[in-house]
Amino acid sequence: MPFVGRQAELDHVRALLADLNVRMVTLLGQGGVGKTRLTLELAASVTGFGHGVVILSLAALSGPDEFLPALSNALGPHLPLDSDLRRALFEHLASRNMLLVLDNYQTCSENRMILLLPMELQKRVN
Ligand SMILES: Nc1ncnc2c1ncn2[C@@H]1O[C@H](COP(=O)(O)OP(=O)(O)OP(=O)(O)O)[C@@H](O)[C@H]1O
Ligand SMILES: [Mg+2]
Repeated sequence: MPFVGRQAELDHVRALLADLNVRMVTLLGQGGVGKTRLTLELAASVTGFGHGVVILSLAALSGPDEFLPALSNALGPHLPLDSDLRRALFEHLASRNMLLVLDNYQTCSENRMILLLPMELQKRVN
């Protein structure tokens, strides 16, 4: 089914993503309101991210412990899964201009690491 409407929301989020001071955008809304569909529409049309867009759906995760391995898997098979995966992921992401889409990230919201992620990246970028 084609994407319908939501022009104001698309424009708003595109403007946020184009703002270099904005490190994280969160879409909140009731179930079925169209958060995922809007995000996919944005991801397909967004520009300005030299390392592209990575979309990771966390809906199937059974808990926060699976977040870092799932993120590593989404980013590519070249990250070390052994020692300090969190550090390796931060290093990897900090050197990239990438839009990372985490759909259904409430699955991992117990894990405060996910909230630390953008702050950590911001510190490294500044
Ligand atoms: N703008 C739109 N144009 C066309 N179809 C849409 C639009 N927004 C949502 N839909 C459709 O409505 C249904 C629900 O949308 P979506 O899955 O994006 O909701 P959601 O907010 O992500 O829900 P959840 O909170 O359960 O993850 C999907 O079938 C989706 O394709
Ligand atoms: Mg959704």
